[in-house]
Amino acid sequence: MCMGVLENSPREAILAGSFSEVIENKRIIVCVGSGGVGKTTTAASFAIEAARRGKRALVLTIDPAKRLADSLGLEGLGHEVQIVAHERLEAIGKCVPGGSLAAMMLDQKQAFDEMVETYATDAQAVKRIFDNPLYQQIAGTLTGSQEYAALTKLQAFDKSGDYDLIVVDTPPTSHALDFLDAPKKLSDAIDSPAIEMFRKMQKGGSLSVVGKTGSYVFKMLAKFVGSQFIEDIALFFSEFNEILGGFKERAEEVLKLLHRDDVSFVIVTSPEEMAVSEALFFHTRLLETDMPFAGFAVNKVHASMPLDLSRDDLASQLGALSCVQALTLQETSLRMASESLLAAHSELERVAQSDRVAIERLQAAAPNSIRTEVPFFRKDVHHIESLSRLRGYLFG
Ligand SMILES: Nc1ncnc2c1ncn2[C@@H]1O[C@H](COP(=O)(O)OP(=O)(O)OP(=O)(O)O)[C@@H](O)[C@H]1O
Ligand SMILES: [Mg+2]
Repeated sequence: MCMGVLENSPREAILAGSFSEVIENKRIIVCVGSGGVGKTTTAASFAIEAARRGKRALVLTIDPAKRLADSLGLEGLGHEVQIVAHERLEAIGKCVPGGSLAAMMLDQKQAFDEMVETYATDAQAVKRIFDNPLYQQIAGTLTGSQEYAALTKLQAFDKSGDYDLIVVDTPPTSHALDFLDAPKKLSDAIDSPAIEMFRKMQKGGSLSVVGKTGSYVFKMLAKFVGSQFIEDIALFFSEFNEILGGFKERAEEVLKLLHRDDVSFVIVTSPEEMAVSEALFFHTRLLETDMPFAGFAVNKVHASMPLDLSRDDLASQLGALSCVQALTLQETSLRMASESLLAAHSELERVAQSDRVAIERLQAAAPNSIRTEVPFFRKDVHHIESLSRLRGYLFG
């Protein structure tokens, strides 16, 4: 699809505005982007802002930095909704009454357990699956299970009606597109021919896999890994088959949910070239699949600060500072220090220029979309208070 068509997509035109409007008008915001660009930070900032504006907000977060988890009251907790104390929000500034902030750290293993409990035919089957050593090993580590966990939790909270706005953080994938493909990948994997073979061979009797009716391959495999292990695999997949129907249905429902008009995708990116390329790829994919794209949150931007100062001017300005005078430096030392400072500054300017070029790529690809820029702060942003520094840039 050519870019011109994408730019004029009706969805993009409708959504142009600001992230403040997105918070006011949407029910679900999904923050996507490549690894380490600031998805968790941005998702938390959106939820905090919504709560301060009087919304009942929930942030579904994935593996937040320890201090951020602490700040949200999530440290040491998994898979439980925590209410963030109102004083924490008031500490940032005045809040509109009625707002609240809830946070939950997703635990993929527990989300998987919940899925088994929901779709298994009876309590005995649940117990058998949970007791299976293979399940213990792989639940939560299957490709796409983290994404699946996030999406199913989202669906459940959406149905509950307990929140005005749910902000979803997404897992640190090497490729942002993994998030959309995850449910299908997972159900394809479970449905693969190899697994189907295990299921067929199991047929209820443990001997059938490696016993008389078992294939040569299984018998050879059993020699290496033990027949019990092969039995566990076969039993696991035949039990798991029971819940597959529900699983696939759920994956399809979740994808449908993501197409809704009250959902908005925010693509978080740094101005780094690779991250921008991925952000653009994701943007194209959202529009092609008619997913509601809100805009780009460009994070960690290096600001340009041109400096019109010669080495000698800088040396004399440095020499005038009382803290420098206390060092009793020679003229030559001052000049050398100034030279190093100017070299460091020009390196920073070079980074700022390349950030600008990357941001222009985003602008050219989606001129009508929201695009905010948050500077690269000198310190990590890990507390609710420090997250509030992002406010002016994201919602100002
Ligand atoms: N604007 C910023 N300036 C400086 N540091 C930042 C900024 N935004 C985020 N950080 C820091 O960068 C690190 C990564 O941020 P964050 O965890 O939000 O990224 P992420 O996209 O969720 O990463 P992952 O893909 O690993 O989940 C954190 O230590 C965070 O405090
Ligand atoms: Mg993260």
